[in-house]
Amino acid sequence: MVEINLPKNSVVKEGKVWPKPEGATRIQEFKIYRWDPDDDANPRYDTYYVDRDDCGPMVLDALLWIKDNVDSTLTLRRSCREGICGSCAMNINGFNMLACTHGIDDVEADKLGRVNVRPLPHMPVLKDLIPDLTNFFVQHAEIKPWLQTRSPDPEKERLQVPSDRAKLDGLYECILCASCSTSCPSYWWNGDRFLGPAALLQAYRWLIDSRDEETGSRLDDLNDSFKLYRCLTIMNCANTCPKGLNPAHAIAEIKKMMVAKEN
Ligand code: SF4
Ligand code: FES
Repeated sequence: MVEINLPKNSVVKEGKVWPKPEGATRIQEFKIYRWDPDDDANPRYDTYYVDRDDCGPMVLDALLWIKDNVDSTLTLRRSCREGICGSCAMNINGFNMLACTHGIDDVEADKLGRVNVRPLPHMPVLKDLIPDLTNFFVQHAEIKPWLQTRSPDPEKERLQVPSDRAKLDGLYECILCASCSTSCPSYWWNGDRFLGPAALLQAYRWLIDSRDEETGSRLDDLNDSFKLYRCLTIMNCANTCPKGLNPAHAIAEIKKMMVAKEN
């Protein structure tokens, strides 16, 4: 995987160092990005020490242990704890990943043995580890992620042969965690106009659905020098996706469909 650095202008101060848990023999140090809309000391890294013998194995377990035992103000998103909802995506020691599916032992600690936790890169931060994903979800809605048809509704359902259904494998599994889009330098610089890998993966999912009858208009909507063509095949998206998906391949397939339509 490619390590993702914070932007150069993100100068983060050293914050509070919280006490080590008393009597603990197995301790892991965490440095965690803090940003509070009501605090002038923004942004900063607070240091926490987690008692590994009192905490579950995943990074998310450690964050919740800190919240429960040390600092209840630490703020993060999470829901399923099973890699399904996508809400706990964050940047852990330079890599975007789901905190709930990554073991503390599996994270490569930095040279000082610390685990550094930051929000997804290059997004506005609402608080601590919570990025503002408004634009990300607006872009997802923009690709019209639903079946569009013109023909009359059949009596029961719109059928799909197994080989056409198989074309959706590797696409429908996306959990919209935003790890891919926020690891993409092209999205960092043009996120207001480039749809980004997550939205484009979903665009392709509907473009190749054999039941959809708006393929032409979907392609017309994407035919824009920024929306689609700001993908520069950097491949961070495929390298970082926690579900093993390949948005860059999907984008390349859209470009091929675009050429075929125009010829
Ligand atoms: S393609 Fe992968 S990394 Fe991107 S939003 Fe979907 S699940 Fe997350
Ligand atoms: S909490 Fe749902 S994916 Fe991590």
